[in-house]
Amino acid sequence: MNPENATNPLLDPALAELLASAKQAALHSYSPYSGFRVGAALRLSTGEIVTGTNVENVSYGLTICAERAALVRAVSQFGPNIRIAAVAVANLNAAASPPCGACRQMLAEFISPDAPILFPAAGGPRSMPFSAILPLAFEMKLK
Ligand code: THU
Repeated sequence: MNPENATNPLLDPALAELLASAKQAALHSYSPYSGFRVGAALRLSTGEIVTGTNVENVSYGLTICAERAALVRAVSQFGPNIRIAAVAVANLNAAASPPCGACRQMLAEFISPDAPILFPAAGGPRSMPFSAILPLAFEMKLK
């Protein structure tokens, strides 16, 4: 990304397109309990965009976030060797919503450390490299 886009990540047309896909996905949110409508879009290294939305459950704890919904859809559609090159998150509630910790750990499995993560922040859309939002992901290295 052009460093001049650091303040407005949407000047990058690829990220703007990804965000538009995330917003579109949020329209399908099933969120009768929270009313928080979230969409996520993943750009795969092969160029495809895969989207997801949050799907809530009356048990509350079984709810799946938009980011993980997109991730399981991407693996289901394209197989276990996918690599995620960029992520955009949107919500229809005009609220800040960086990806939750559980979603960060799930994304870590498939994402490049320098992949931009675009999310709604207090001052508007913000982009940070994945390694900055999850610097110390759990890894399992058995001896
Ligand atoms: N949610 C997401 O979809 N992504 C996040 O990163 C945070 C939270 C959803 C889960 C739940 O349906 C609603 O937002 C409120 O937490």
